[in-house]
Amino acid sequence: MTDPKRYLVTSALPYANGLKHVGHLAGAYIPADIYARYLRAQKRDVVFVCGSDEHGTAIPIQAAKEGTTPRAIIDKYHEAMKQDFEDLSMSFDIYHRTSEPIHHETAQEFFTYLNDRGELETKESEQYYDEAAKTFLADRYIKGTCPNCGSDRAYGDQCENCGRTLSPDELINPVSTLSGQPPIKKKTSHWYLPLGKHEQFLREWILEQHKDDWRPTVVGQCKSWIEGGLQSRAVTRDLDWGIKVPLKDAEGKVLYVWFDAPIGYISATRQWAIDNKKDWKPYWYDKETKLVHFIGKDNIVFHCIIFPVMLRLHGNILPDNVPANEFLNLEGDKMSTSRNWKLDMRDYINDFVKKENGGGQCVDMLRYYLTQIAPETKDSEFTWKGFQDAVNSELVSIFGNFVNRTWVLMHKLCGGKVPKLHNDILDENDKFLIAEIEGAKAKVEMLLEQYKFREALYEVIDLSRKGNQYMQKKEPWIVAKQLAANPDLQKSIDNTMHLCLQLTANLAILINPFLPNTANSMIAMMKVVDKMLDWENAGRLKLLSVGYSLREPQLLFRKIEDIEIAEQVEKLKAGLVKAEAGSQKPEVRPETSPGKSSLTDLKPQIEYDDFAKLDLKVATIIAAEKVPKADKLLKLEVDLGWEKRTIVSGIALHFTPEDIIGKQVVIVANLAPRKMRGIESNGMILMAEDKDGKLKFINPDEATSNGSAVS
Ligand code: 2FM
Ligand code: ZN
Repeated sequence: MTDPKRYLVTSALPYANGLKHVGHLAGAYIPADIYARYLRAQKRDVVFVCGSDEHGTAIPIQAAKEGTTPRAIIDKYHEAMKQDFEDLSMSFDIYHRTSEPIHHETAQEFFTYLNDRGELETKESEQYYDEAAKTFLADRYIKGTCPNCGSDRAYGDQCENCGRTLSPDELINPVSTLSGQPPIKKKTSHWYLPLGKHEQFLREWILEQHKDDWRPTVVGQCKSWIEGGLQSRAVTRDLDWGIKVPLKDAEGKVLYVWFDAPIGYISATRQWAIDNKKDWKPYWYDKETKLVHFIGKDNIVFHCIIFPVMLRLHGNILPDNVPANEFLNLEGDKMSTSRNWKLDMRDYINDFVKKENGGGQCVDMLRYYLTQIAPETKDSEFTWKGFQDAVNSELVSIFGNFVNRTWVLMHKLCGGKVPKLHNDILDENDKFLIAEIEGAKAKVEMLLEQYKFREALYEVIDLSRKGNQYMQKKEPWIVAKQLAANPDLQKSIDNTMHLCLQLTANLAILINPFLPNTANSMIAMMKVVDKMLDWENAGRLKLLSVGYSLREPQLLFRKIEDIEIAEQVEKLKAGLVKAEAGSQKPEVRPETSPGKSSLTDLKPQIEYDDFAKLDLKVATIIAAEKVPKADKLLKLEVDLGWEKRTIVSGIALHFTPEDIIGKQVVIVANLAPRKMRGIESNGMILMAEDKDGKLKFINPDEATSNGSAVS
């Protein structure tokens, strides 16, 4: 959309059933905040909405766990999440909640509108029912094995392990989470949204109109939904927690949480408009509004298929883009609330932001790292070492160092005032820097408009890197030593410091959407008003007036010490041990040897991207020994060419160590390490298993070099 009149930016409404972790923050919140801040700096008309998702089975389930009421749960977690977002400088124009009456009215009106126009179907079907609890088992009230990844932690709506959207009927060995008993089937009737009727529209709108401007991962997921056949989706549930279905014959029925939650964006906009004496309607009805939904990849089907169909039927505008992020892993493993393998925003706030040497700079350090590793095109990984490196080697050593050096030298060599620029003696280095300053705005802008936040941030840091290189070439501190002999050299010092100061002002503008606290510290040092941060000022060279006196330098970032990192890693591991000790059933993990299965059995289809995540390599087994007290396990040492590693493999009943030493095999080289019998296994050997359960190695038909990629 070229030059929209207004923007509506949304971040996924988090469930008010617990604290949220940094994976959520990186997925749906930080990118949206950067985008909204950038638009505001451009003086665009923008409303950025978010709020708590307070319905669905997740809420009463958490209430039962905590021995309290659903109402108490949403009140507690709404406040906590709101506070965490505030503490991490999220700039929502409104952080609303779906328990508010205005939301109930908006969602009920929406349902009535579609139902009155015959856009919903009613159907009777058999659904899972818990006889002991006397209730139907919607969504998270039912658990079982995921047909996609085999995890036994799949719910009736989604698998916690692989993120796949599910329906209760797809679960293998379903059990009620209320009584722990296998459920029976019972008849019930519900309202459905017949998605199949909208296939043509979805094909044209997503697969043709948006095939190039939406992320390939998003278009890919939509394509597989559309091509897999669009089923009618129930938009109501038999539950007592949620928004009542606004019809007389609908006793005990509520709107499905995924019907009401996205409407939460509309009710939040309405509340914002009331609070600010504005008209909300153009934001949802005028085609000149650009609507952008920021979400994680597990929400794609709801935001790209179901909600757009609802919006279209209701006469609203459609999203212009849905820049969904992939997942963020943590220290080599998936983030998981139940396994306590996660970093909650609240923990980071307590351990860094609220500490004596914390504050806004620690907020920005996290915002920086999470943007630098944002899972924009594929899953990415948070590691504490990576966090420390990003802060110490980039924020401190490049960006912070440039600003600090400029300030210290300006006080030392120019009396704390902005020196003149002598155009008559500009040299090649000066001209190069001027061109870089003038060109950075367009580069950053183009990347932000394409939702490439990682690259946009890289450009800003790169500009400060160029500032350092410039300073290094000009060496004003050395030039200063020759001043007594040649007073004319003051002009050269003036030019260097003038340009470094103008660059600092530019950096403040460009970094502002990403690191707002840093930008604020910088404008305080410059003694300028925040108007200077207007985006249109980027690229200008006269932001700081000649002769203007500036404050003393102030360090923008502190270093992250090794001890802080070690403590965090320790804490993470301790949390996992605690969670595992408290859990009855460990999570199902992939086997080290193939499980027995029929030769014709195929697992559900995967996307190419899923396959591409595997790193398969050729390696040679150079040592093998039996693992004591484990009949099935062999401890192998394999040579990958560039390194040797240990792999524990469940093949001891099939091969003796002597049989296999010297064999070339294919291994999954990027499998997360796993401990077996106290030995860390770093990969998995691929084997073929025939119908009798006999194992054979998979290897190249001729010897090849170790480390060769298999694809
Ligand atoms: O996945 C979730 O956490 C959902 N509560 C997101 C809802 S987004 C929107 F539709 F409200
Ligand atoms: Zn799964």
